[in-house]
Amino acid sequence: MKSPATLKGRSLLTLDDLSDEEMSQLIDFASELKTRKADGVRGSLLERKNIAMIFEKSSTRTRCAVAVAAADEGGRAEHLSAQDIHLGKKESTADTARVLGKMFDGILFRGFKQKTVELLAMHSGIPVWNGLTDESHPTQAIADLMTVKEKFNRLSGLKLVYIGDGRNNVANSLMMGCAKCGVSFVNCTPPTLSPNSELVANATAVAQRNGATVAVTDDPGNAVVDANVIYTDVWVSMGEEDQREERIRLLRPYQVNMDLMTQTGNLDSGSVIFLHCLPAFHDSNTDITAKSGALEVTDDVFEHECSHVFAEAENRMHTTKALLIASMVGEA
Ligand code: CP
Ligand code: NVA
Repeated sequence: MKSPATLKGRSLLTLDDLSDEEMSQLIDFASELKTRKADGVRGSLLERKNIAMIFEKSSTRTRCAVAVAAADEGGRAEHLSAQDIHLGKKESTADTARVLGKMFDGILFRGFKQKTVELLAMHSGIPVWNGLTDESHPTQAIADLMTVKEKFNRLSGLKLVYIGDGRNNVANSLMMGCAKCGVSFVNCTPPTLSPNSELVANATAVAQRNGATVAVTDDPGNAVVDANVIYTDVWVSMGEEDQREERIRLLRPYQVNMDLMTQTGNLDSGSVIFLHCLPAFHDSNTDITAKSGALEVTDDVFEHECSHVFAEAENRMHTTKALLIASMVGEA
């Protein structure tokens, strides 16, 4: 197997922390680990590695990805709910980081402020991975691009359209992830939810050197033409619940439904897939959608053969495993 050995000892706070080459290497290493697991090999690459997982926000996939990745390779992960530990209350983030750095080999953090994950990395002395903040979700984007590569056997030259809340964590990381992999990225969102212009400029520069483009538009019908990937996320991210009514009003015209998938022109030929980081508000999935109907995606798309959302969720585990091994162990 070939792990990106240059990541040893390093943190992943945003995708800016990876070179273009390291991003591709991580995806390919994750694919090797996936095959290895399918072949029934139980490894020991994370033997005696202890991982702290700090969660200020809820999680299913991210938490399980770390727990299973660690267990598969002989390591262990400790779940630390922010409600149960002193972080940010009786103890500063810097002091908590120094304590965890004396006991653990790596820290995954999910929470609100990007500053918190930066402080953990600055003071712990061990690799820290961003498992989602208000600003970014880098481990998600690695799994997303692995899933795209599994389908198309390549990344360079493809077109991905993200449609929905254009300034959220998932959109930000996906934009940079696509740029690094040579995937042309279109962010389709109402003007009031446009991504930060500095992030767009940074991603554009990266995309250019990889022969790709970055675009922002508010016109779904035009945006999706020739798309290979249609991607959406929830309209209301964790911590923004007070904006629910306004978001639903703004984003209704940006729902991913069969009409929109058909407008790509790629549905019949099987040249377009649907992705969503999950959890998703599709038709009667939850109490909320039981009352209001589908929000960001309809059931006919979510359940269609073009939908690869559960392969994408599985790939969270394989890519997380690749990241843990590369940054705590190095060569594998
Ligand atoms: N996609 C994702 O990060 O899922 P969780 O919130 O369940 O971790
Ligand atoms: N944008 C979503 C992603 C969830 C995985 C949120 O932050 O809630």
